[in-house]
Amino acid sequence: MTLRPFCLGTVWPNIHIVSNRLAVGTLRTFASPQVIAMTFSEQLKNQLNIVDVVGQYVRLKRQGSASRYVGLCPFHSEKTPSFYVNGSLQIYKCFGCDAAGDVFQFVMEHEGLTFPEALKLLAERYGIPMPQRAYADDPEVRSREALLEMHEIAAEVFQKNLRSPAGADARQYLESRGVSKESMDEFRLGVSDASGQQLASRLQKFGPSLLEQSGLVLKRENGTFFDRFRARLMFPIHNEGGKVIAFGGRALRPGDDPKYLNSPETKLYKKSTVLYNLHRAKIEARKNDRMILVEGYMDVIGVYSAGIREVVASSGTSLGIEQVRAIKRQVSHQGTPGQVILNFDPDPAGTRSTEKYIGSLLAEGMRVRVLQIPGGLDPDEYIQQNGAEAYQKLVSAAVSYFHWLADRAKEKFDTRTADGRVDAFKSLLPTVKYVSDPRERAAQASELAEILKVERDVVHAALRGIPVETRQRQEDLSASLPPNEKLLLGCLLTSQDARQTIVEHLRKVDMLAALQTRNIFEATIELENAGVPFSMEALSARLDEREKKIVTEVSFAELGIPEDGALQQSLHCLEALENTAVKLKIEELETRVAELDRQGNMEEAMRVLSEIDRMKRAS
Ligand code: CTP
Ligand code: MN
Repeated sequence: MTLRPFCLGTVWPNIHIVSNRLAVGTLRTFASPQVIAMTFSEQLKNQLNIVDVVGQYVRLKRQGSASRYVGLCPFHSEKTPSFYVNGSLQIYKCFGCDAAGDVFQFVMEHEGLTFPEALKLLAERYGIPMPQRAYADDPEVRSREALLEMHEIAAEVFQKNLRSPAGADARQYLESRGVSKESMDEFRLGVSDASGQQLASRLQKFGPSLLEQSGLVLKRENGTFFDRFRARLMFPIHNEGGKVIAFGGRALRPGDDPKYLNSPETKLYKKSTVLYNLHRAKIEARKNDRMILVEGYMDVIGVYSAGIREVVASSGTSLGIEQVRAIKRQVSHQGTPGQVILNFDPDPAGTRSTEKYIGSLLAEGMRVRVLQIPGGLDPDEYIQQNGAEAYQKLVSAAVSYFHWLADRAKEKFDTRTADGRVDAFKSLLPTVKYVSDPRERAAQASELAEILKVERDVVHAALRGIPVETRQRQEDLSASLPPNEKLLLGCLLTSQDARQTIVEHLRKVDMLAALQTRNIFEATIELENAGVPFSMEALSARLDEREKKIVTEVSFAELGIPEDGALQQSLHCLEALENTAVKLKIEELETRVAELDRQGNMEEAMRVLSEIDRMKRAS
């Protein structure tokens, strides 16, 4: 199950961490009022039923056992249902697109919300009062909040500087680039002080440890601090919830190196997961089912000011999977793939990024168009020269990625010759593999043949050669488990009675070593020992990623465990597995005997032999 480790910049900053940690201990059973406050997400979850929540979005049908439901997946488009909800474990999984998680994950993905936003929505919808500020005692939470506060102070300081007489140059620079007063305010643009002391002294009260962690200052050899950003135009970078978590600082004079200086990675800021302007763009993106992706801060400001608000920047990093998914959460709903318009700088670097991102976006099932601005301009420059309306027209006219790729191929190959045309066509085929719908694939290939003037026969012959590449399916980790072990795990996950019996049996009989999923069983025993009620969270908190995946897989697998027969079934499995364990042990001892024999240690060999004998008689 994928749980967000923590969420940035919110009133309830890391409920999941806290709840996971608590689930491991015994606190839940001996809850004091304070502990209750700390496990709000768990409490909320206990009061919700995932079947009910998901049922508000997806038509679910009960299947087989009382707590299994199936429906059409809301996260990808399908005609036969492969989306399952498990009511007893309170999780969902789609076997078509691998979407999986708990009730919070579902609402986050479906509504395009962050974790705390999803909590809030559910709490409000079900009339469950939410604690305003819990966790003030948690040092981790306190330091995150302090770091957020430091960033907020920094943003205010930079903004004030820009408005002050000292900011005159920077203001003039922005004005010369067509950035209005309103845009400066909206984007909270600012300028950092040239002295290198302003922030360091403003933030001194937070102490050296937080100062160092913030990334806003640098440490001298003598232990004192000075500002990282000096005399730069400052762009605050926000998290999805709208809190400032980092800065980009642009040089103001030509020749100042580097052109952009950015915050380092910190507790608040993970570069590969953040998109510039996402918190402002998300509302409009959801409304219009599309997002425009540009390269830089200035492009975002330009496009946004031109009236197109669904615009984000990857800010010079290559687009990571988490960024792709953040976009997808906003633009794709109810199995309808959203649209992404790529509008990168028309230079070789921009072209390379465009080519690369087309693949990443298609692989996540999104529609992709490419906006190539004529005249070698980037979006910001184009809008400056031609105005908002002209840019809006270009957006509406952006071509499908296919046309764009074909144009690139035409540049690379000599399409005046038949061979050149075929080569051009072939160079584009690797992208076709991302299109999983056969009809759409054929249509695109025909269109492509048309554009490049290649014979249709060539197209169809070439197409037959490429297998459909659907979104990467994860290997089935549980497939290699011995059948009895998989069944036993299935029983453990479905029935409280079976679970208790299994735990008692494993406490008495020494057979854990023979189980491949030993850790999962041990974790269950530990929960039982600690008096923690069994739940997916409590279990997951003690497992690694691989083990968690196995648990999810097995809990949705068709194992044919009879409705009321899980206990009986688990006894059979235990017996069979115990026999296997004994057999393994005997084999091990026999090897040992052979070894002792070779060493001439007959006395010890006899002792082991009699142990083998005893084991054989007992089994
Ligand atoms: N970038 C960076 N470090 C650099 C250069 C660029 O982090 N040394 C990132 C910035 O996020 C920048 C983006 O890459 O916004 C795009 O770079 P570029 O096109 O050079 O910047 P613009 O935003 O277009 O800025 P300007 O128009 O002022 O040159
Ligand atoms: Mn630019």
